[in-house]
Amino acid sequence: MFKIKGISTKERTCDVLIVGSGAAGLSLALKLAENASVIVLSKGKLSEGSTLYAQGGIASVYAENDTIDSHVNDTIICGAGLCDVEAVKFTINHAKESMEWLIDIGIAFDRKEDKNGLEAYHLTKEGGHSHRRILHVADATGRSIETTLLSKATTHHNITLLEGYNAVDLITSKQLNLPANKVLGAYVWNRNQEKVETIKAKFITLATGGASKVYQYTSNPDVSCGDGIALAWRSGCRIANMEFNQFHPTCLYHPTARTFLLTEALRGEGAYLLRPDGTRFMPDFDDRAELAPRDIVARAIDYEMKRLGVDCMYLDITHKSKEFIVHHFPTTYKRCLLLGIDISTQSIPIVPAAHYSCGGVMIDQHGKTDIDGLYAVGEVTYTGLHGANRLASNSLLECVVYAHACADDITNQLRVYHSQPIFKIPSWDESQVQNSDEEVVIQHNWHELRLFMWDYVGIVRTNKRLERALHRVQMLQKEISEYYSNFKVSNSLLELRNLVQVAEIIIKSAINRKESRGLHYNVDYPDKLKNSKPTILCKEDN
Ligand code: FAD
Ligand code: SIN
Repeated sequence: MFKIKGISTKERTCDVLIVGSGAAGLSLALKLAENASVIVLSKGKLSEGSTLYAQGGIASVYAENDTIDSHVNDTIICGAGLCDVEAVKFTINHAKESMEWLIDIGIAFDRKEDKNGLEAYHLTKEGGHSHRRILHVADATGRSIETTLLSKATTHHNITLLEGYNAVDLITSKQLNLPANKVLGAYVWNRNQEKVETIKAKFITLATGGASKVYQYTSNPDVSCGDGIALAWRSGCRIANMEFNQFHPTCLYHPTARTFLLTEALRGEGAYLLRPDGTRFMPDFDDRAELAPRDIVARAIDYEMKRLGVDCMYLDITHKSKEFIVHHFPTTYKRCLLLGIDISTQSIPIVPAAHYSCGGVMIDQHGKTDIDGLYAVGEVTYTGLHGANRLASNSLLECVVYAHACADDITNQLRVYHSQPIFKIPSWDESQVQNSDEEVVIQHNWHELRLFMWDYVGIVRTNKRLERALHRVQMLQKEISEYYSNFKVSNSLLELRNLVQVAEIIIKSAINRKESRGLHYNVDYPDKLKNSKPTILCKEDN
């Protein structure tokens, strides 16, 4: 599997290697660094990841009339019968302490005066929530979280941040024919110097975010390539529920601009979804209308677009005052204005786009995976919280809650850690590979993969489309694997190798599910089965 030969020359060591510098990776790093030496890798800029772009906020029970039970209940209803109830209770019971931690490190969630003239957090609402419970920093909550976490991590003496380093593969004792199945380190590609290095660590945590880049249209930044899922898969970890990719109903439809999310909080504050003729359609699909869970809203938009043969639907908040809009949604207002749309007077053209991976690497309540010493936190994971569909604003919450649980567990393990017998990690071998002379192969396969995933494995699926997609993905895998063996690594090759692996897992998971549930809708099995379980796949069985 590895291109290996000889003994590694450049080697770093640390107590804990964290792959990913988003909300999950940095929350973990800051907690761990009180007791451990930590290296954090980011393949792109340190701040780049979905966290930076999160808009709506974080769900937590703060309103007087709200309860933990109600948040649990809304999460379970949204998850369409597939949530792990223990994981839901665990997350929501720990929400308040995670929010207080964020507030303590400096996140200034928006506040307002309540009816008694007292200061309280301003809580917004999103689809599937029966109460106002989203704490936010205007419509740029993620930016505030990412930049605050990063500034704390940058100045911490026990944290080394490595920007422009891609984790390529994990190194486990099993792969080196040593006893047990323990993670020992990772091969990482130093982008700046274009060479592969080795990092040895007592513990490794994957915090690499989601895989929505596998689809042609996505709200996610370029780094969301499912790398952590592919790394864990190649090392033998179980991966669950990958058929449940969430499509956000409202991303800006614009001929030239990059996809931009229009936060669900707009609908929470009263925005309507309209057909091109200005009529509302959501009341025809669900009693909760615009605030139904995302799977229902995205499918309704897809249905109306196909029925009418149009390119987009519209989101309209023009009935609110300009002052209200600019105050609550400054980022959205400015961004749209730059593109020539004044959202205080005009409807916004929207389409759904791939947004969130509900499935991922299977972990327990401490973030442990199937491999000794290997943990995972954040969007890369499957915890059981989201079931068949994630409730809005439960993701950032999951990142922080599980990062802290993982930190506690690793800290305890470090106290009783016995060093490994001395072992040598083979170094990366580039003696048999050459510089690529045909970059076009990579570009072509990127486009082909993302396009057929969108067309065949998107919001509405059929058996035939899934079979077609499987056939195509297996051909691509062969080609990419051959290419990988012959040419030097590059960022796009590493990402493509991972994306094509994740695409195959998504397709196989979708084929295995003989029903429609939550985010997975298959025209050939339109109903829910009476008894349904998570889909769990493992490389050894495939
Ligand atoms: P990310 O923040 O995506 O970070 C991943 C990190 O891993 C990055 O640093 C990346 O460089 C690194 N990485 C990846 N692969 C490698 C590799 N091979 N080697 C080295 N580094 C690697 N959720 C909410 O709860 N509320 C919201 O309001 C909300 N709004 C959203 C709006 C948008 C536009 C998007 C895209 C998502 C939104 N979400 C929201 C979802 C939420 O933002 C993400 O699920 C969450 O931020 C994921 O955090 P993370 O730390 O797991 O991953
Ligand atoms: C949004 O602001 O609409 C995104 C919220 C989320 O994905 O949880």
